[in-house]
Amino acid sequence: MKIPFHRADIGEEEIAEVIDSLKSGWLTTGPKVRKFENSFAEYIGGRFAVAVNSCTAGMHLALEAIGVSRGDAVIVPTLTFAATAEVVRYLGAEPVFVDCQQSDFNLDTEALDSVLSAAQGKGLNVKAIMPVHYGGQMVDMAAVSHFATQHGLQIVEDAAHCCPAGFRESSNAEWESVGARSVVAAFSFYANKTITTGEGGMAVTDDEDLAERMRIMSLHGMSRDAWKRYSGGTAHYDIVAPGFKYNMTDLAGAIGIRQLEKADRLHAERERLAGIYRELISDVEEVTSLVDQANRIHSRHLFVVKVNPQSSSRDRDEVAAFLKNKGIGTSIHWRPLHMQTYYRERYGFQDDDFPSAARAFDEMLTLPLYPGLRDEDIALVVDTVKQAVR
Ligand SMILES: Cc1ncc(COP(=O)(O)O)c(C=O)c1O
Repeated sequence: MKIPFHRADIGEEEIAEVIDSLKSGWLTTGPKVRKFENSFAEYIGGRFAVAVNSCTAGMHLALEAIGVSRGDAVIVPTLTFAATAEVVRYLGAEPVFVDCQQSDFNLDTEALDSVLSAAQGKGLNVKAIMPVHYGGQMVDMAAVSHFATQHGLQIVEDAAHCCPAGFRESSNAEWESVGARSVVAAFSFYANKTITTGEGGMAVTDDEDLAERMRIMSLHGMSRDAWKRYSGGTAHYDIVAPGFKYNMTDLAGAIGIRQLEKADRLHAERERLAGIYRELISDVEEVTSLVDQANRIHSRHLFVVKVNPQSSSRDRDEVAAFLKNKGIGTSIHWRPLHMQTYYRERYGFQDDDFPSAARAFDEMLTLPLYPGLRDEDIALVVDTVKQAVR
């Protein structure tokens, strides 16, 4: 590939930090993970951060900690990655899908009331909502928190794309970081994310009890505190629940420490590159960028365009194939969950049950965007898109 879809920004600092861990002999969860947790909590502006081995793990722990269980339901956008809904199913609860808006592919906040009424009409006990900040642009969290408060729902943010991201209600309001209006926000450090640990995630919360529950459940439900209370000793643990094995290794934590130090620089570069894309794409009328909403700090994790089926001479898949033949990697985020076999078979969905997401799926194309991409690479990508659609 001349221009791969993704390349991680790993420098000598990360390599040195990992070597330091290897030489120290401490490979699993230890001092590097603790340091990464503390720095990450401070960076995001949350009180507690629990490092885990994926964002999926973080979301699972968050839902478990707030008490989602069999018979409950959680509102989830249909336009999301597998993880957001599968963690609901892990707990025996039901995902309740909501459609997306065309402007930015985020969940349609205006559809929330009717989705909730329909779910309640089927006897579901809707307990929580999981907004996904598509590509790193935050959902209207004022609308989501208003809705959640009105109906007594908890908010768990799928903040996989959001290191960093922000929202404010108006241009006079204070900026709020991602996580400010939810009980837990879960971040991903998967290889292609804005900062990476190879595989990894972080659950951030201001609630000490939730943090403690997530920490215990991330490691087999083992509690040293419970043992201390029971015996007065410190070397033992007590198992308080059948937990999971979700802890982050110190090798990953070592990478995370150094990546986080670069987060602002990486973000600024993504912002600059996205600006070049937006300007060049605005000359290609067969293709449109997603809307940049006012009052957002966009992480610029993804640069997604819509290929207009009326004016483009090739459909989206053909455009992607054309780019691939020219050595340019692309991706698709995502085929909506209601169009995936498991959810279709379990809930009997038709594609047009969520027509906006179905349409988005036909038109969406994610172009390469990452620090290390050169300005001329972006010009080449846009030129090649132009050739593909004309
Ligand atoms: C929106 C969203 N949520 C969750 C995840 C899962 O992240 P992880 O691979 O760290 O579990 C991803 C991964 O790409 C994602 O895009």
